[in-house]
Amino acid sequence: MTRSDEVQVFASLSELSRAAADLVKKVADESVARHGRFHLVLSGGSTPRPLFKLLARDYRHAIPWRTTHVFWSDERYVPPDHHDSNFATAESDLIQHVPIPAMQVHRIPTDFRSSESAAIEYDVTLNSLFPNAEVPQFDLALLGLGADGHTASLFPGASYDGNRWVAAVVGPSYRPPRERITLTPRALNGSRIAAFLVCGPEKHRAVQSLLGSTATALPAAEIRPRERLIWLIDRPAHDGHDHAAGP
Ligand code: 6PG
Repeated sequence: MTRSDEVQVFASLSELSRAAADLVKKVADESVARHGRFHLVLSGGSTPRPLFKLLARDYRHAIPWRTTHVFWSDERYVPPDHHDSNFATAESDLIQHVPIPAMQVHRIPTDFRSSESAAIEYDVTLNSLFPNAEVPQFDLALLGLGADGHTASLFPGASYDGNRWVAAVVGPSYRPPRERITLTPRALNGSRIAAFLVCGPEKHRAVQSLLGSTATALPAAEIRPRERLIWLIDRPAHDGHDHAAGP
């Protein structure tokens, strides 16, 4: 392991999600104590869904939702009620169940004439919330990892301006929808803490490469938050096989 990453391995996604929920609560309490708000970035995909539902069910009163601002690491360029929308997923699993003010739910817009104009709009939103900041002052970014080493919608070979905070990109055909908007590594690295939530044996090679001593060109390797990088990994993703399934 070449970086001061913190790695926690769990027997199941359920245990991983519980640890992630406790992390969200801890950082939320710290952040509100520090600066009166909690800036949380949610990822898309399926891995965080048990966490979202757990937060809605068991942490409704344990997290300072009224002073929480929610952002997304990326979004597919589909309507906000589309089944592929990361916003729609988080809205149904979490947002609609907790008392977070609607003005503090910062959805990546996907109802513009183009994904590029939507990316520019989200950049304006972030700059208005973090005026004169070099990078967005997120407190916690929850991120997923693809088997190809992508995170957010930063896919291998994607082209974007790394100086920007938000970019419109085209993803690979094997991970539709292809038109996406993503925070760039520069924006994600503005986060004080970043936590990868990773499960499934198909992620093992990417996990091994990212935690190993070999330099890696994988997009997720560009994530270097200001204070802590935490890996919450289930055993199949960490070991490459599912013990429960036997030898
Ligand atoms: C997206 C996500 C993406 C996701 C990974 C892992 O929009 O698809 O932001 O980066 O986190 O692809 O997805 P799973 O959790 O579904 O494996």
